Amino acid sequence: METLKIGICGWGNVATGLYKTIIDNKELINSNGNLDIEISVIGARRDNPKCDPGNIEIVRDIFDVTEKEIDVVVELIGGVEVARELILKAIRNKKHVVTANKAVIFNHGDEIVEEANKNGVKFLYESSVCAGTPIIKLLREELAANKISKIAGMLNGTSNFILSNMEEGADFQPTLELAQKEGYAEPDPTFDIEGMDAAHKIGILSSLAFGIPLPPDDFHIEGISKIEKDDFKYAVEMGYTIKHLAVTKLNNNEIELRAHPALVRSNSYLANLKGVRNGIEVETDLLGTLHIAGSGAGQEATASGLISDLIFLANSKMNSSPDKSKDKKNLLNFQSLSFQYYFYIEAEDIPGVMASITAMFAEKNIGIESIVQKENLNEKVVPIVLITDAFVESKHMELKENILNLDSVNSVRSIRIESD
Ligand code: HSE
Repeated sequence: METLKIGICGWGNVATGLYKTIIDNKELINSNGNLDIEISVIGARRDNPKCDPGNIEIVRDIFDVTEKEIDVVVELIGGVEVARELILKAIRNKKHVVTANKAVIFNHGDEIVEEANKNGVKFLYESSVCAGTPIIKLLREELAANKISKIAGMLNGTSNFILSNMEEGADFQPTLELAQKEGYAEPDPTFDIEGMDAAHKIGILSSLAFGIPLPPDDFHIEGISKIEKDDFKYAVEMGYTIKHLAVTKLNNNEIELRAHPALVRSNSYLANLKGVRNGIEVETDLLGTLHIAGSGAGQEATASGLISDLIFLANSKMNSSPDKSKDKKNLLNFQSLSFQYYFYIEAEDIPGVMASITAMFAEKNIGIESIVQKENLNEKVVPIVLITDAFVESKHMELKENILNLDSVNSVRSIRIESD
């Protein structure tokens, strides 16, 4: 059995979860992974009262870990720039690197992989996307013979948790507070609810599947903070629910990359993954549609992915990081994509209001698939819910403004519909 000496940088929730799992699951890791993991050193700026690492050496300068006699540096400090420096230093000191840090990969992934390959070491990051729910090595290894045409899913557990609860009638703010209390949400929850966390993850998956650069060019990132409870009511009546989707897709030899709320058919696989779970659909030429779902956050789920990287590292004969797809493709401009839309419009209940609204769509040559005037909110205000035919994104903002500028309209919301 091989022994792998590791140094852990960072001593927060994720690092202490890794420490505990290595100890608790030692026998399993020994027998299933044919590997003994020895934690030689921990780089911790301060002690963690929740976890005593016993006799393991502690260094206060995390950069010192990279100088120790170890095989692997496990980077768990989070953040971007210091993490980049630490990872590059470890690589230059000929240490393999394992990380769960999506932000550093999203922002500096290409540079780090290039440096790892130059130095003959591996850079592995299974836990950076959906924690231990397997997707990175799945794309790199198991699906290596497949042409991937689309990856779509709910990659942010906090958003899925909030939307699932809102679907059942809960309000946004208390549900976010519950997610924070349960430890799903990022330290700064705007990363979760404004779509950045999911955007980092889909950027990484797109780089593996389609070879887009890391960091990618700008792409459309939108979170869930403008979704209202009533949108679920109307979406459900029409056979949909609302999810936060991250999507990357081959489209006429160019690449779509986007993260935003979307209506998805109620009977679809993704619609039925509720709560904090992450779910991903991968479409390939050889396997058709593949579904993966599991926990995408938390100490134990993250430890699972980190240890899978350590086992892979010990058992793999390659002495470099697998390069991503060589067939590099361009990112499509989001404004050129077409979607069907759900619109929610609050208007005054006066004769001709429907006609003035539909005229706005007709003016832009946009068809309406269905339009329903719902029960009045009060004597004067009526909600109107409609589904459009597909139209190009570049018309969207102006259309919304034109509707809002009508004297009889008080507010407008719109959500894209993800096609099946
Ligand atoms: N805050 C993230 C989520 C977990 O809610 O999915 C780690 O990426």
